Amino acid sequence: MPQNETEQVKFWRGDFGDTYVDRNAASHAEISMRLSLWARIFELMAADMPKSVLEVGPNIGLNLRAMKMLCDAEYFAVEPNDKARKILIEDEVLPAANLQNAFAGDFVVPETPVDLAFTSGVMIHIHHDDLLQACKNIYASSSKYIVCYEYFSDQPETIQYRGHGDKLFKRDYGSFWLENFPDLRCLGYRFEWQAMTGMDNATWWVFEKR
Ligand SMILES: C[S@@+](CC[C@H](N)C(=O)[O-])C[C@H]1O[C@@H](n2cnc3c(N)ncnc32)[C@H](O)[C@@H]1O
Repeated sequence: MPQNETEQVKFWRGDFGDTYVDRNAASHAEISMRLSLWARIFELMAADMPKSVLEVGPNIGLNLRAMKMLCDAEYFAVEPNDKARKILIEDEVLPAANLQNAFAGDFVVPETPVDLAFTSGVMIHIHHDDLLQACKNIYASSSKYIVCYEYFSDQPETIQYRGHGDKLFKRDYGSFWLENFPDLRCLGYRFEWQAMTGMDNATWWVFEKR
């Protein structure tokens, strides 16, 4: 087990993470919502669609299942929860060889960077102090695009999460990316409003390496 495995990663590897997997299902409704989401995001990449994609923290792969219908690419993922990884392989979302048992702060950056690396609802589970290392790894994994789809707050916040402290965070992740990686250019961003999407209120950004 890596030395720098955080209490948040242990939490997701353990019972809480397993229960989250049990609560999740790749239903028609869930996949439809992700299809709409990724159709909006891929519009910004239409001139040069990614041919390889890495999701950090896919859980059972709701994004990946939808993305595969919209974008013909090779898909990779990094997921710390055993149960989630088992489902990803059993459901053939990914081949086992493309799936790492690791986490954002410490995974094997692909030798050949992918065209698109992204997180969706994962940075919010990384402590503010550990965020930069996670972003460095994601940045190094991509040759072109980075997508970040997370809860937003003007100021860094720590929120109670289903009765647990220090497991849910919010901030302006878009500014965090730009401040720490100045060669990134923002191709677009959008607030996904729960009242319209059925998913949690969240904001996405699409960045391109210059
Ligand atoms: C809230 S779920 C989001 C799942 C998926 N990305 C989605 O949008 O449906 C968080 C997922 O990230 C994983 N995770 C938590 N901390 C992580 C970390 N530091 N690095 C990578 N994955 C992490 C969890 O095991 C879980 O599968």
